[in-house]
Amino acid sequence: MALALVTGGAGFIGSHTVDRLLKLGYDVRILDNLQKPVHIKGKPDYIPKEAEFILGDVRDRETVENALKGVDFVFHFAAYQDYLPDFSTFFQVNSVGTALIYEIAVAKKLPVKKIIVASSQFVNGEGIYKSKTGKLYYPKRRTNRQLEEGEWDFKDKNGEKLEYIWSPETYACPPNQYAISKYSQELMALNFGERYNIPSVTLRYSIVQGSRQSFYNMYSGACRIFSLSYFFNKAPTIYEDGMMLRDFVNVHDVVDANILVMEDEKANYQSFNVGGGKAYSVKEFAEIVAKEFGKENINAKITGEYRFGDTRNACSDISKLKFLGWSPKRTANDSVKEYIEYLKAQTDIQDILDYTEKTMKNLNVVRKSGKDV
Ligand SMILES: NC(=O)c1ccc[n+]([C@@H]2O[C@H](COP(=O)([O-])OP(=O)(O)OC[C@H]3O[C@@H](n4cnc5c(N)ncnc54)[C@H](O)[C@@H]3O)[C@@H](O)[C@H]2O)c1
Repeated sequence: MALALVTGGAGFIGSHTVDRLLKLGYDVRILDNLQKPVHIKGKPDYIPKEAEFILGDVRDRETVENALKGVDFVFHFAAYQDYLPDFSTFFQVNSVGTALIYEIAVAKKLPVKKIIVASSQFVNGEGIYKSKTGKLYYPKRRTNRQLEEGEWDFKDKNGEKLEYIWSPETYACPPNQYAISKYSQELMALNFGERYNIPSVTLRYSIVQGSRQSFYNMYSGACRIFSLSYFFNKAPTIYEDGMMLRDFVNVHDVVDANILVMEDEKANYQSFNVGGGKAYSVKEFAEIVAKEFGKENINAKITGEYRFGDTRNACSDISKLKFLGWSPKRTANDSVKEYIEYLKAQTDIQDILDYTEKTMKNLNVVRKSGKDV
């Protein structure tokens, strides 16, 4: 049977992909360094015994060489993902790790059948907007002045709010260190793949939700932050005015997409968005979490704070992957239910919300606008 290497296979998306690969009869090897704070408590119990586990770093040549031995498919999920300003780490882990996989595959002429690289919706940045007259806008970022004044939306020169367009894969405008490093991974995978005949696919995931998402990283999805807040009976903080649009995709739908692009040759040498297909405002999403938790009595706080480097709207056009036969089957409510069940099954969750919030403020990642709310 074919052997699949899953880097970052101890993590959220990686571990669910490992489970599915085993279920489908693939042999699986995991390469993961159990990065803290993601794995603050060491190796997670959910890692199956049937999978070979290599504890190691994707930046280390010898480790990656060993991990690639005899491999048919590679899922490259290992990544550094945070909002923190240690810029070089993003490129050391994300960019160098990806380059190393291709470098070794080429140098050793490895018969790898396909490499699938995890990218992110964040690559789209602020995305594309349209005015009432049909003029397209490609904003890079909101200015400091705009954010300080709590002017959250993009407007045309007459002050009219612009309409957000769901991002296609052809667009990229990475707004921060994480997104730039993820885009570099896409460029490398598609370029090196094509030039050296190593079928490669990159997947731009939207915000992924479901069980096993680490409780302990500084930055991760709204689902984790809102759920932990309700778990500890605290009112969650919603940034900006809560009207930012996002699409959320369930981790099992993501795994469906991963397997599809691995098995379907038509996916080769392409990039695909993997999203939920439905836009929610962050405020609306907080209400879903409150409802599923039975904590509708705790109102989320909108304090006028914002996260520096965050985008106003982020929704991905998924028509390209739908054309290959994939579509998201689980709703945001399904994802939240799954996450809450997982959270409630944990025995010793520490309340790290205050700590992460304080750290983000100290690093000037979370800032306050002057606007009264
Ligand atoms: N979760 C999301 O919402 C989301 C959205 C868009 C893109 N992505 C991308 O999907 C991939 C998987 O994300 P996830 O949510 O499962 O993250 P995760 O943090 O749960 O898993 C990442 C895994 O990689 C491992 N890792 C980190 N640095 C490593 C290194 N240097 N060497 C070896 N292993 C290392 C970690 O220990 C962890 O187990 C990432 O590439 C991420 O950028 C995730």
